[in-house]
Amino acid sequence: MSRYAAFVLFLALGIEIHVSHGTEVSVNDKDGKLCLYANLMVNFSVSYEVASNKNETVEFELPSQVPTNGSACDATSSTLKLNFGEGHSWSMNFAVKENTYQADSITFSYNLGDSTVFPNSVSNETASVTMKPHITDVGLDTCYSCKSKDMIQSDSVNQTLWNVLIQAFVSNGSKSDNLTTCAADVPATTIAPTAAPTPTTTPTTTTAVPVTNSTSPAPPPTTTPTPTLPSPTTGKYSIKPDENSTACLLADFGLRIGFKQGDKYQEMNLDPNGTVASGSCGVNSSELVLVSNSMTIMFTFANDTKKFRLHALNVTAKPSSGVVFSEVNSNLSLWEAAVGSSYMCNKEQNYTITNLLTIFTFDLQIQPFGVKKGVFSTAEECFLDSDLSFLVPIAVGVALSFLIILVLISYLIGRRKSRTGYQSV
Ligand SMILES: *[C@@H]1O[C@H](CO)[C@@H](O)[C@H](O)[C@H]1NC(C)=O
Ligand SMILES: *[C@@H]1O[C@H](CO)[C@@H](O)[C@H](O)[C@H]1NC(C)=O
Ligand SMILES: *[C@@H]1O[C@H](CO)[C@@H](O)[C@H](O)[C@H]1NC(C)=O
Ligand SMILES: *[C@@H]1O[C@H](CO)[C@@H](O)[C@H](O)[C@H]1NC(C)=O
Ligand SMILES: *[C@@H]1O[C@H](CO)[C@@H](O)[C@H](O)[C@H]1NC(C)=O
Ligand SMILES: *[C@@H]1O[C@H](CO)[C@@H](O)[C@H](O)[C@H]1NC(C)=O
Ligand SMILES: *[C@@H]1O[C@H](CO)[C@@H](O)[C@H](O)[C@H]1NC(C)=O
Ligand SMILES: *[C@@H]1O[C@H](CO)[C@@H](O)[C@H](O)[C@H]1NC(C)=O
Ligand SMILES: *[C@@H]1O[C@H](CO)[C@@H](O)[C@H](O)[C@H]1NC(C)=O
Ligand SMILES: *[C@@H]1O[C@H](CO)[C@@H](O)[C@H](O)[C@H]1NC(C)=O
Ligand SMILES: *[C@@H]1O[C@H](CO)[C@@H](O)[C@H](O)[C@H]1NC(C)=O
Ligand SMILES: *[C@@H]1O[C@H](CO)[C@@H](O)[C@H](O)[C@H]1NC(C)=O
Repeated sequence: MSRYAAFVLFLALGIEIHVSHGTEVSVNDKDGKLCLYANLMVNFSVSYEVASNKNETVEFELPSQVPTNGSACDATSSTLKLNFGEGHSWSMNFAVKENTYQADSITFSYNLGDSTVFPNSVSNETASVTMKPHITDVGLDTCYSCKSKDMIQSDSVNQTLWNVLIQAFVSNGSKSDNLTTCAADVPATTIAPTAAPTPTTTPTTTTAVPVTNSTSPAPPPTTTPTPTLPSPTTGKYSIKPDENSTACLLADFGLRIGFKQGDKYQEMNLDPNGTVASGSCGVNSSELVLVSNSMTIMFTFANDTKKFRLHALNVTAKPSSGVVFSEVNSNLSLWEAAVGSSYMCNKEQNYTITNLLTIFTFDLQIQPFGVKKGVFSTAEECFLDSDLSFLVPIAVGVALSFLIILVLISYLIGRRKSRTGYQSV
């Protein structure tokens, strides 16, 4: 029945969907059951080289009809891959995290040799950018819905996503009617749509009035006290030994601090826009100081001959209450990697610095020593980034059984020895 209803509805909305140029795709699992559904709009703005040191910027849209070869789903991770034009593709990776799922990355590959899209391009290679989307904490068995525009920027590509409706983990073969609505859509009344009245597949939005009627627990529209902060923007910081040299220290990360003042715990994101980086590079110790309107953070890195590590951290924050918070720990051993390489951790991480202070990092890559030509050296990835974390229980098991065998052997040897001992007496 519901499938019929959905079909009729789809027919009824068909014209509008066509007008909106939304891209609607379904991915089936190996048993042929729907496992991923997406309906979204993406605009790309790509800057590329046309003649030596001259750049051109083109804008184009994700076409409405795209094959999904390369998409896949399993129980805890899924990939949506959309292929279009002459060798362009756009893919999004999703992962389950407890009772929610999130989009971990968007990879956009574009063939600069496609002269219809990139006229006069110097290169004919396929370039690729990977960015972090802002799609997190989507309830399992719900569709992520975001009508608002979300611009994701990188060096040479900006992408704008809007009218997004995605369910990355579909159970029992049919799309859920329950929505997880993005934060930007919540104060919906502030945006009076001058453009077309967002005709997505949500049945309740057939009128021009933006009425949200989702069965998901609607977030309170009033002023929420301290809800989850959005992920901090990734900042790119570098230190040069002097004006005319290339960087000697590089640090890319999004940073959030969480701290306690009395009974009150609060979190603040470091906004890279307006943050000034300074510091120094040494042989045995390097320093990075970041100063923003609301906080000052001093990182001290140590070079222990073969490895480097974050050795000291001094955080001073000025929250809106006006009471300054300051904590220092000069005995840390974080972000360790070989001197001459960089340390990388893409997954969100938290580190307890003192009992009042925690820091959270996002998309971290850092190199405080031995930077060559101003770019990061090979990265040593943190444990959590590698897919080997599943080995931990196995390793523990193996170690334990080894220990038991060892104890058993020594016991047996001990017994034999003591027995022969008695006999010889
Ligand atoms: C991306 O957006 C930023 C800010 O609007 C702009 O400065 C930059 O030129 C854009 N880049 C491209 C490739 O469109
Ligand atoms: C997307 O691109 C199309 C064509 O380039 C343009 O007409 C439209 O205004 C763009 N929309 C947004 C939200 O940027
Ligand atoms: C790309 O360009 C190089 C030289 O500019 C050329 O040798 C090569 O054949 C081209 N490759 C393709 C796929 O067009
Ligand atoms: C949608 O949410 C309601 C209430 O939270 C729940 O009873 C229902 O089972 C959910 N439906 C689906 C398809 O998850
Ligand atoms: C939302 O949906 C429920 C049940 O489907 C319906 O009773 C209610 O009138 C709807 N509310 C609005 C504002 O459309
Ligand atoms: C940097 O280079 C400029 C000109 O190339 C020179 O005048 C200046 O002294 C140099 N500064 C340093 C710190 O070497
Ligand atoms: C940085 O902040 C300034 C002033 O607050 C603002 O005008 C500018 O658009 C911001 N830049 C970015 C990239 O967000
Ligand atoms: C790290 O320290 C060792 C010993 O102090 C020194 O030989 C080496 O040059 C240092 N490495 C860098 C990149 O500064
Ligand atoms: C760096 O440390 C090494 C060994 O600890 C020491 O011999 C050397 O003098 C130190 N170098 C600097 C510049 O402090
Ligand atoms: C930590 O930083 C604050 C502000 O930058 C400074 O006043 C304080 O002396 C620093 N503390 C230590 C132990 O370096
Ligand atoms: C630094 O940490 C190590 C181990 O984490 C500990 O043994 C040592 O006592 C600490 N030193 C100080 C000064 O806190
Ligand atoms: C810190 O990380 C651990 C493990 O990744 C996680 O279990 C914990 O919830 C995190 N703490 C906070 C406050 O996010």
